[in-house]
Amino acid sequence: MTDTTSGRTPIIAANWKMNHDHFVAIQFTQKLSYLLDKKDTDGVEVVLCPPFTDLRSVQTTIDSDRIPVSLGAQHCHFEEQGAFTGEISPAMLAKLTVKYVIVGHSERREIFGETNEMVNAKLKAIWKFNMTPILCVGETLEERESGETDAKVQAQIAAGFDGVAKEQIARTVVAYEPIWAIGTGRNATPEDAEATIGVVRDAIASVAGAEVSEQVRIQYGGSVKPGNIAALMERPGIDGALVGGASLDPDDFARIIRYRS
Ligand code: 13P
Repeated sequence: MTDTTSGRTPIIAANWKMNHDHFVAIQFTQKLSYLLDKKDTDGVEVVLCPPFTDLRSVQTTIDSDRIPVSLGAQHCHFEEQGAFTGEISPAMLAKLTVKYVIVGHSERREIFGETNEMVNAKLKAIWKFNMTPILCVGETLEERESGETDAKVQAQIAAGFDGVAKEQIARTVVAYEPIWAIGTGRNATPEDAEATIGVVRDAIASVAGAEVSEQVRIQYGGSVKPGNIAALMERPGIDGALVGGASLDPDDFARIIRYRS
């Protein structure tokens, strides 16, 4: 089942950031599976993005218990292999049957200095190994208050998708995450989130055409909780959520996935 208005299948992803060791990750995944009915994941794609050290454990738990969730990673390098101490290559993630890779999260951009050029190189590398990037874009509070939101996300989209094939752009997931809403408990209103997502969709259309842009699933991220997910998902322009804090608790995350009930 897809969203009848947009034709795009909703996608709810958990970004655990640097939380949960692999023991906790296994318990979490099993508990989530027990909390969800088949109808909860029918027509909603669910993705878990744990830290690197948990990937193998979560992968084997998902496979052995046939849990209807996909595996995602939070980051990778753009090279396939080499002298990059501490980094993980897209080839390594693909071997673990990772399906999604978050790229350009604001924490990677702001804390670890990832540039638009690096994000673009990673996006291409992720596609090279047939995984799907979740490309994050979003503005700071300062940028928002000085009216630079649209220009910021437009530049991030143009640079992120530079030189990427249209059929890959169509299948890439984009997450609009206003930085001032991340981990602050202050989410964008559904109307504001949908408005900027519209700007993001238009920016994708400028790069790849309207037909491609209409296929791209665009999530909202930033203080998504069980109490605000339904109102966000009611907006036809919002195709899902990238959830941080509230995805750490299996009960809360299950409630977010069950936003329709
Ligand atoms: P919070 O849901 O904790 O605000 O985090 C959002 C986020 O950064 C997801 O990638």
